[in-house]
Amino acid sequence: MQTVLVTGANGEIGHSLLHALAAREGCRVITLDLAPLGDELRSLVHDARVGDVSDPAVVAELEKNDFTEIYHLAALLSTSSEKNPERAHHVNVNGTMGLLLMARRIGVRTGTAVKFLFPSTIAVFGMGSLDEKNRAGAVTEFSHLQPTTMYGINKVYCEQLGSYMSDRFGQLTNEAGVKALDFRALRFPGLISATTVPTGGTSDYAPEMIHAAAQGKDYACFVRPDARIPFMAMPDGVKALLDLAAAPAEKLTQRVYNIRAFSPSAEEIATVVAKAFPGVSITYAPHPVRQAIIDSWCADVDDAAARRDWGWTPDYDMQRAFDEYLIPTIARVYGG
Ligand code: SER
Repeated sequence: MQTVLVTGANGEIGHSLLHALAAREGCRVITLDLAPLGDELRSLVHDARVGDVSDPAVVAELEKNDFTEIYHLAALLSTSSEKNPERAHHVNVNGTMGLLLMARRIGVRTGTAVKFLFPSTIAVFGMGSLDEKNRAGAVTEFSHLQPTTMYGINKVYCEQLGSYMSDRFGQLTNEAGVKALDFRALRFPGLISATTVPTGGTSDYAPEMIHAAAQGKDYACFVRPDARIPFMAMPDGVKALLDLAAAPAEKLTQRVYNIRAFSPSAEEIATVVAKAFPGVSITYAPHPVRQAIIDSWCADVDDAAARRDWGWTPDYDMQRAFDEYLIPTIARVYGG
C-alpha cells in the first residue's frame, strides 16, 4: 500500500489527478488544501485535510504518514502572485521548503526515497523582448532563465532547491549520499481543462475563452491576438505527472523537464473556438501587465529530454484536444 500526498488538491490539476490516482491499485491518497474538497473529490481520497501548506503545524501532522509520493501542487499562480508578491514568496518558496524537508525526513525514517513531483512552469523563462522571444523559438531547459514575475522566480528557485535537497543536502555531514528524496519537476505549459476554470494564472485567457464561448458568452481576451505560448490539454498534464513519477530513476538524466503539446497564438485559439461555438464574439482588450507577462514567456519549449528519458509524448495535439476532449466534454459540463 502506497501513501500519496497531494497538496493544492482543490486546484485544476488536483481535480484531474485525484481521479487518476483513485484508479490506481493499492494507493491511499491524503490531500491538503485551504478549502475543503467537494463531495465528489472527497469520495476519491482516504483523508482530506484543510490547512495551509506553509504552516509548520500542518506539515508536522502530515509528517506522521510514511508518504512514498508527494504531488506538491499548492501555489499562487502568476497573476495572483503579482497582486501579492510577499504572500506568493511565502507560499511558493517557504511552503515548498517545508514540504521538501518533511519529505526528506520521511525518506530517512522509512529508508525509501520519497518521490516529490513538482509542477514548474514556462514562467521560469524570461524573454527580454518580443524580438528575443520570436528568435528563441522552442527553448531548452537551460536557456533564457531570467523570469520577470514573482511566480517564475519562485518556481525556478524551487526547481533548484528540490534538486539540491535531493542530491547535495547534508554534503558536509555524514548525511551525504542519503537517498531520501527524489525530486522531479515538470515545466508545464498553460493547461486547459474541460471541467474546471483556472483562477489567478496568466495563461487563463485560453480556458476562459473556451468556457465563456461554451456558455454562449462573448469574451474580451486580455492579451493581443498574436500572443503565443505553449498549451496542453489537462489529461496530458496528468499523464505527464504520473509518467514522470513512474519513470525508473536511472533513466532520468535531469531533475527538471520541459513538456509541450501545441503552441497557438490567441487568435488561432479564438478561430477554433468561434468555429466550435458559433455566434459568440471574441474581442481583444490587452491588459498591459498580463500582456507583458505573456510576452516574457517563451513561444514554445523543446521537450526532447522528456521524450528521450521517460518516453513523454502528448496524446492531444490542438485539433484532437478540441475535437475529442474540450468541445464534447465542455458541452456536457454546460448541458449543451
Ligand atoms: N498557468 C500558469 C499561470 O498562468 C503558468 O504556469 O500562472
